[in-house]
Formats: sequence, C-alpha cells, structure tokens
Amino acid sequence: MVNNKVIIFDTTLRDGEQTAGFRLGANEKLEIAKQLMALKVDVIEAGYPISSPEDFKAVSIISEVVEGPIITALSRIVEADIDECAKALAKAKRPRIHTGVGVSDAHVLGKFKDDKYGKTKDEKREYLFQKAVNAVRHAKRYVDDVQFYAEDAGRCDEAYLFKVIEGVIDAGATVINIPDTTGYSVPEQFGDLIAAVKKNVPNIHKAMISIHCHNDLGMAVANTLAGVRNGAHQVECTINGIGERAGNAALEEVVMALRTRCDYFGVDTNIESRELYKSCQLVAKRFGMTVPPNKAVVGGNAFAHSSGIHADGVLKDKNTYEIMRPQDIGMEEGKIILTARSGRRALQHRLEELGYELLPEEIEKIYARFLIEADKIKEVSDQALQAIVEDEVRISPKMYDLVSMEISTTIDASLATVKIRVGSDVKQESASGDGPIDAIFKAINKFVDFHVRLVDYAVKTTSSGEEALGEATVQIEGKGKIVNGYGASTNIIEASAKAYIDGLNKLVVMNECNLKQSCNDSGRIA
Ligand code: KIV
Ligand code: ZN
Repeated sequence: MVNNKVIIFDTTLRDGEQTAGFRLGANEKLEIAKQLMALKVDVIEAGYPISSPEDFKAVSIISEVVEGPIITALSRIVEADIDECAKALAKAKRPRIHTGVGVSDAHVLGKFKDDKYGKTKDEKREYLFQKAVNAVRHAKRYVDDVQFYAEDAGRCDEAYLFKVIEGVIDAGATVINIPDTTGYSVPEQFGDLIAAVKKNVPNIHKAMISIHCHNDLGMAVANTLAGVRNGAHQVECTINGIGERAGNAALEEVVMALRTRCDYFGVDTNIESRELYKSCQLVAKRFGMTVPPNKAVVGGNAFAHSSGIHADGVLKDKNTYEIMRPQDIGMEEGKIILTARSGRRALQHRLEELGYELLPEEIEKIYARFLIEADKIKEVSDQALQAIVEDEVRISPKMYDLVSMEISTTIDASLATVKIRVGSDVKQESASGDGPIDAIFKAINKFVDFHVRLVDYAVKTTSSGEEALGEATVQIEGKGKIVNGYGASTNIIEASAKAYIDGLNKLVVMNECNLKQSCNDSGRIA
C-alpha cells in the first residue's frame, strides 16, 4: 500500500487468459493492456513467456509499448522460465519477474511425487524451499523487482509457508503473493492467514504482501477484501473476474467495494473508475463472452430499477436505492425499466420524458393497457409505450388496420395476401416479392395511391423463449415526409406488417391524403 492506496495487480492477460477455451493473440493482448493503462492499474501481468512464442511476443510488445504500470510475467522456479521472462520484459521501463511454487501438501506431494525430489514430505519441502530461494536469486540477476507466489497458500501448513516466505525475502523478493489458488478459503480465515503472515514472518516488513483469490466457492472478492482488512498491500484480480475454473476476484468489484466502503476499509486505489465499464466490455468482447445483466458493478441491470417501490424511490432521490453513481464507472445514467411491476409513477415519468402531456384520465387508460402489454412482453420499450399511447388516447385516426395476412414462400419468391380494414370496409391485396417481408410491404403499398419508399427497417426480439416478442420498426417516406412505424407481435412478419401500416397511418394523417378506395398497382417499395 502506498499513501493508503491498495496496489491493483491486473492478471487478466495471464490468469484471465487461462479461462477454459480461450486464447488471445499478441495484438489482442496489447489492445487490452492499453485499456488497462487507461484504467490506471498499477501492475499488468502480461503473460507466461515460456508457455508459447505468441505469449512471449505479447509480453515483449506490451513491455515496449505500455508505459506507466509495472509489467510482469510469470515463471515457475525453473531457470529457463525466468530467463524467458527476463528476455520478454527486456524493454519494460518497470519490469517485474513473478516466480513461485506450490506450498501446500497437495502440491508438494501431488506434483513432486518422484523420489528425486526427496523421499519424505520434509525432504520434498526442503528441496522446493532451496529451489525457490535459488529461483529468486536467479531472477534478481535480471531485475530488482521480484515477486514470489506461494501457490495454494490457502490450504497449506502455516509454519512451512512462513519459512518459505522468510527465505525468499532474504533472497531478495520484493513482493510476496499469497494465493488462495483453489478458492478454498472463507473470508475470516483468509484474513487471519494474512494477519498471521504479518505477525510470524520476521522480515515481512521488507516486502509487500499481495493476495490472489480464486472464486471456486464464489468468495474471491470477499476473501480479497478480508485480506486488505488484514494488511495486504496489493490485490490481484481480473476484469470481469475471468480466469482459471470459476475465475479470479473481479477487479471492478474489488475497486468499487473499496471506494464505496472507504468508510470501512479506509483505503482506496489509483484506478480511474470511469474506465471500468469500457474495460469490462472490451474484455468480454475479446474473450467472446457477455457481461451478465445482473453482474455486480458493470451488469446492464446494475443501475436499472424495475419494481414500483424502487422506481418511485429513485425518482425522488437516487440515494434511496443506489450506492454508486453509474457515471463513476463510465455507464450512462441508470434507467427505470418498465415492467408490469413498475407502477404508475414510473410510467408517468417515462411518458413525460418522451414528451407527452397527458390528462390524469388518459394516464389511467394508458396504465390499464400498459399492464396488459407488460404481462405479455415483460419489458416495455419506449416504442412499445408510444404505440400504446397512440392506440389509447391519441391522436391519429387509424385509416388502416391489419385484419389478417397469408404468406407462402419458396426459396425463390414469396407471395403475400393482406386483408386490411379501411374505414368500415375490409379489402384484400396480394403481391409477390423477394422474401416474405418484401412481399407483404408490396401488398400493403397497393392500398395507397402514392409512392412509398422504405428508408429503414429493423426487427428485434425483446423477450426469450417460444413466446418471444418481435418488435419491428420501419422508417418510410411518402409525399416528401418521413415517418417511423412500430409493430409488435410474437410473429415477426406480422410485427413488420403492423409497423408498416402504422407508418402509413401517420403518413396519411400528415399528408391528409386518402386511402385508395379501389386497388391498382401503383404502390411500390423502392
Ligand atoms: O492461482 C495461483 O496460485 C496463481 C499463481 C500462479 C500466482 O495463479
Ligand atoms: Zn491464479
């Protein structure tokens, strides 16, 4: 810790990249490292150079290009590994070699079974202790800054851990990493371990204590915070908590917990928190993942309020349900998600934001219809809400109304037949097109006597499962005017037809042009 700032060691590019099934190339790693620089992490662990030529290249290029943070690379207590780290870090302004070995019985006995490492547990431990000390000495030939990791410290015999730590500090280690490699610890216990290291290792004041927690039992962030409470100076974490198995402590969660609860922890970090959201998005994209909506700090719903009680509270005072500000992590202002449980107050607020000035009885009408639609479609978008307003209290007399449609499609062409209510009459038109949407728009065009051009068209689904709702939007031009149309249905072709007819209704109102009473072929889609 420097000036009450916990040092943030980001290992997204090393442990994060050990996420099952993922590999990043050197250029992708460089792109992320530049973003980590903007985020102002203190240390970037760029890779494990001996593992592959591409990783060696990634560490070299990041060392050359990225300035500011310390750049470190991983090795085992093997001289060849350390030599590769030194070569890859050669151009770094602030290089650090990170070396280490397992200290738990599970590692000492499980990985070093061969008698050549010693016959008994004590002999094997002694052998590894000497190798660890020699590895640190070897790394010191290249760099001043050497970090030692005591792998699986979360499950080890403390007396042996203290001995190893003391030995590697005497050999010159500047940072001691105490990992809970298997995510086995619980917060109180992990905090006690850090306190015990501080108390029982006589030369610990000569090194910085780092912690590195895995998330196998979902406690990586909690264990990390417990470590900080007990005197850890540096925390190792990854963006979005990615990493080996269930991943590592999530950087964004640790950073915002320390910042938001500074009253409790009494420390902060150097992180530029407004870069957090961008960093999480970039890493998710490059790793081909999505950030879950309920992800702490950076999930899409992290600042969204849905229930009526919450929405009402937030509209009166954000402090009622928000402990962080979305702007502080680089997200847009939190929004109220309109669902069946949002309540009148939230609905009215959104209507005002959309520019509607409505009478109380109009709002009641809209609210009643909103509840019916929200039960069907879960989340009511702005466009869906506008369509409800149009239907219930507004405005445009509806010239056209979809009654039914029939589509037949082959690989080469589609034929659409559409029935539309025009005033009190129901009329029918047919047209063929390149696909079902083209055919249906062309058939609808036959109901008007002016040229209509399709400017834009999009469909999206707003809920999942078999009953997923399709929302279609069109932008059409007619008689020099451009309007938007909106339609929703569980059938996206019907949603598209409704959107197109909605647009036509608006064009008719704007142009005061009339429905063609008899059909001809003049309707076209450009
Ligand atoms: O989890 C772990 O112990 C590690 C070390 C290599 C630092 O990732
Ligand atoms: Zn790890």
